[in-house]
Amino acid sequence: MELSTIAGQSIPTFPLCSTDEKAIPLLGFGTAEYPFGASIHTLKETILEAIKLGYRHFDTAAIYLSEQPLGEAISDALRLGLIKSRDELFITSKLWCSDAHHDFVLPALKKTLQNLKLEYINLFLIHWPLSLKPGKYEFPFQKEDIVAFDPKSVWEAMEECQGLGLTKSIGVSNFSCKKLETILSTAKIPPAVNQVEMNPLWQQKKLRKFCEEKGILVEAYSPLGAKGTAWGTNRVMECEVLKEIAQAKGKSLAQVCLRWAHEQGVCALVKSFNKERMKQNLDIFDWKLTADESHKISQLPQCKGFPGAAFLSDDGPYKSVEELWDGEI
Ligand code: A2P
Repeated sequence: MELSTIAGQSIPTFPLCSTDEKAIPLLGFGTAEYPFGASIHTLKETILEAIKLGYRHFDTAAIYLSEQPLGEAISDALRLGLIKSRDELFITSKLWCSDAHHDFVLPALKKTLQNLKLEYINLFLIHWPLSLKPGKYEFPFQKEDIVAFDPKSVWEAMEECQGLGLTKSIGVSNFSCKKLETILSTAKIPPAVNQVEMNPLWQQKKLRKFCEEKGILVEAYSPLGAKGTAWGTNRVMECEVLKEIAQAKGKSLAQVCLRWAHEQGVCALVKSFNKERMKQNLDIFDWKLTADESHKISQLPQCKGFPGAAFLSDDGPYKSVEELWDGEI
């Protein structure tokens, strides 16, 4: 991996494939809180604080209800001179499943841009390999709303979005190696990113190897296990091995998880709306895990925090978690 730092920032960046995008900061600020929209009235201030602390990469999605507060925070940051230009930020958003139909993709991105008050985003992802009946934005959703997913035509529409310059790069989220192969078999523009659950208890070794071979950057969501959410688990923050490593190093368990993700060559997306923890989570770039610590983490028993039962249905494309993840679970 080629690392560089952006002026005045300590966050390393990495050039994405198949785009003229400059580079992606390898630590991003997650804006998903469960239930979605719970902090909507304070989120703008939280994001402004994050910009002050040095975060430059923000991860949102249509379903999170965080696009609008993020857009307002960006406008304020420019007005206050915290950043000189919008180009200093890397903004990702995601296509919700009810818009995962060829003709709905471009209108969905235009709505996202309107929410963000931006002319372009840096990265647009297919949120899940699933389509829902159009019109509703809800999670959890009704099983009867799950319909057939056509990756080829949805991806073509994503490519059109990049062609129009409304997003600098495109990618996917929650895709297995097999589902990535399907996209790659017809893509004119290969996905630049696959954003997936990844932390010391769900290390994604096979998927990471596949993505590295194909030049796809892996982004780790729930790098701390996302405790307290519908998709999270306490197991990461309560892991004894991680606690011991953190104590021996004089770091927090969260920092050990984020440093570990960084050393695996992925981009970690961490969510904290607490100023001290936001600061702490940035402090992972001037120290290292020892070979022994990395080895101990590599030996941890694996257990996926979010198998995705909500995405299964008797009449939809996935009847079991094995089908959803193509056995990569
Ligand atoms: P909070 O927002 O109160 O800080 P993930 O990034 O895996 O989705 O995890 C997010 C969860 O972890 C949130 O509940 C967040 O709570 C908490 N969290 C984030 N950073 C830290 C940290 N440094 N120490 C402890 N908990 C953290």
